[in-house]
Amino acid sequence: MAIQISPSILSADFARLADEAAAVPGADWLHVDVMDGHFVPNLTLGLPIVESLLKATPTPLDCHLMIEDPDRWAPAYAEAGAGSVTIHARAASAPVRTLREIRRHGARAGLALNPAEPVEPYEDLIGEMDMLLLMTVEPGFGGQKFLDLVLPKIRKARQLLDDRDAAVWLQVDGGVSDETIERAAEAGADVFVAGSAVYGAQDPDKAVESLRAQAQQ
Ligand code: DX5
Ligand code: ZN
Repeated sequence: MAIQISPSILSADFARLADEAAAVPGADWLHVDVMDGHFVPNLTLGLPIVESLLKATPTPLDCHLMIEDPDRWAPAYAEAGAGSVTIHARAASAPVRTLREIRRHGARAGLALNPAEPVEPYEDLIGEMDMLLLMTVEPGFGGQKFLDLVLPKIRKARQLLDDRDAAVWLQVDGGVSDETIERAAEAGADVFVAGSAVYGAQDPDKAVESLRAQAQQ
């Protein structure tokens, strides 16, 4: 299972996004945290900035929508050219339709669960998704501590996906660092979002390679 690293631009300088994207040429994705100030208590950016970023970097965008109405907005991110669009299960009123719409517009479809949300209710949706995102912090802010209490759920999700031979990626987001990534990888995650660990480093691209090396151990 190939390890992928998706640096989160939430910890980058928003006034220099093109340069910040170029600072991580070794990254597999760029993780874009879209927050609306309602689903989470923080406000970041939306479709116009994603459209600009798509023109500014060759790295595919991994858009993580922390918004109240993903059914309405998610397809537009896919249509704009995002490589992956992830919605929060709890926020969607029609997750099946929305995941299908994301795919129909040519993007990978992701479903996200908060730390306290169990994976079992979404078992039957595995065929509808390309990625399952398990939050390892409460969503809203960068720089929080990795929640070890999510590790058993990562193991459970890995088992469910393997049992079904599903080609679904398992992403973790929040508090991922050189210290925590090994635990998440060992539990079965294969796509790692890291904000402060990458953009807080002297050399962001080196930080990406260091995370990859730790995850592969
Ligand atoms: C949190 C966001 C994360 C955030 C991670 O709600 O979804 O993507 O940028 O930041 P770190 O890696 O600093 O925990
Ligand atoms: Zn995120």
